[in-house]
Amino acid sequence: MRRYLFGMLSDSNIKSEKYDTVVIGSGIAGLYAALHIDDKSRVAVVTKAKIDESNSWLAQGGIAAVMTKEDNSRMHIEDTLKAGAGLCDQRAVEVLVEEGPENIRELISMNVPFDVDSEGELQITREGGHRLRRIVHCGGDATGRETTKRLSEIVMERSNIDVMFDTFLVDVLTDEKGVVGCILYDGETGKYRVCETYNLIIAAGGIGQLYSYTSNPVGAVGDGIACAARAGARCINMEMVQFHPTMLITGEESDRLFLISEAVRGEGAILRNKNGEAFMQGKHEMADLAPRDIVTRFILKELEKTGDEHAFLDCSSMTEEFFSKRFPTIYGECKKHGINLTKDMIPVHPAQHYFMGGVEADLNGETNVPGLYVCGESACTGIHGANRLASNSVLECLVFGRRAARHINQTSRRHGTFDAVSFFGAIPVTLADFTVTDEEAAKDKKLLRKTLTEHFGAVRNAEGMNKALEILKALYNKYDHVTLSTPFQMEVCNMTETALMIARGAVNRKESVGAHYLV
Ligand code: SIN
Repeated sequence: MRRYLFGMLSDSNIKSEKYDTVVIGSGIAGLYAALHIDDKSRVAVVTKAKIDESNSWLAQGGIAAVMTKEDNSRMHIEDTLKAGAGLCDQRAVEVLVEEGPENIRELISMNVPFDVDSEGELQITREGGHRLRRIVHCGGDATGRETTKRLSEIVMERSNIDVMFDTFLVDVLTDEKGVVGCILYDGETGKYRVCETYNLIIAAGGIGQLYSYTSNPVGAVGDGIACAARAGARCINMEMVQFHPTMLITGEESDRLFLISEAVRGEGAILRNKNGEAFMQGKHEMADLAPRDIVTRFILKELEKTGDEHAFLDCSSMTEEFFSKRFPTIYGECKKHGINLTKDMIPVHPAQHYFMGGVEADLNGETNVPGLYVCGESACTGIHGANRLASNSVLECLVFGRRAARHINQTSRRHGTFDAVSFFGAIPVTLADFTVTDEEAAKDKKLLRKTLTEHFGAVRNAEGMNKALEILKALYNKYDHVTLSTPFQMEVCNMTETALMIARGAVNRKESVGAHYLV
């Protein structure tokens, strides 16, 4: 029998609304998709967070796209396939790259403030795995913030779009023909609401908070993926978790680590150990700008050899004036922690950053469940393979967010006579025997994060993974028998579901490829 989280619902006064399309998530993928839905149809953008709490908002480096005459699609496709270590879907990569430039031009027409030089030409930077400069950016190192901000302003002005903040996706509702609605929890009123809709786009971001050390914000727990999976959507490449080589190490406890963008190495910074040795030289033809799974492993190896707690990023090839203008956010954060870039190197260590796996989506972002779309980090379109090329992620949000919206505009899934309230009322609800407190759920969350961090990190071994799988199975089974009564408990339940899929994927892939590296 299908699993729902809403088992404890018994409120017959649940508010029910009709929308042509519901979008879950307010990062770049969700906002851009919502803006491309026909403006005569009714759209809801649902977000459990605030606009500035998404992974998109935090994206520093930029957006990869062929925007110069030195570059071409063939080279961007080749670099993407090479970084993906043989697991990319070539057709999806071609779509991504070929539709990239027109989406950048569309953002420009929407007044997203890309950085330009004194002649008004786009400034283009470089990151790991790219053979040349190919990345456009905003606010120096604030591409995600500036893009999300502008898209959200336009969304707010659109009269056909309702934005629901502090609202949590509990379950996707389906019948034998596909999506018919969703159940939401409104954090402000503490009440559930049912949306009747035939088109649901999940753009709920990544999974970083399943790990103890991540660049992702607190909301990135993979709950969009878990909800889609419960509705019958196939999830693939779940073992492919990306670790970014350079998070700032400050010694302070924090929910998320601050990222030092790869673009800093793109502008000339190099990695060194504490003896000052530039250890990436001679290790790979692209040295410090090798794809990030490779750089991450070389850092970990170096730390194991030297016994040090972190590596260093040497930015001395740049003047302070250049650095502070080109990377104002990073400069400010380093300064806040007493790092003087004219004489100090930046202490860095790899940590979880991105998820290549997710809900399987076709070239229109549609899943195997009719009417259920996914885009952005929750989706697996096959473009990233076993390791994502830097700055292809925001590009994916644009290209596939727009494709999903256009597909919805062209299809005829519209309102019928479906009544979601009686529908969910008819589902046999068996209240589970047990309850948990939020304190207990917090302990379970901690155990889950520790287990994934220790055994499903950048370097994995079969024995450890198999033992860890049992811990994750037990956690999943526990939440299968618990009546959930707060959004936090539902979030933890979703985490157990997504974590188990990651662990199973990793245990089942017997050979090293890309980010899945076995010793
Ligand atoms: C970075 O700026 O290094 C991160 C960008 C990305 O994740 O592609």
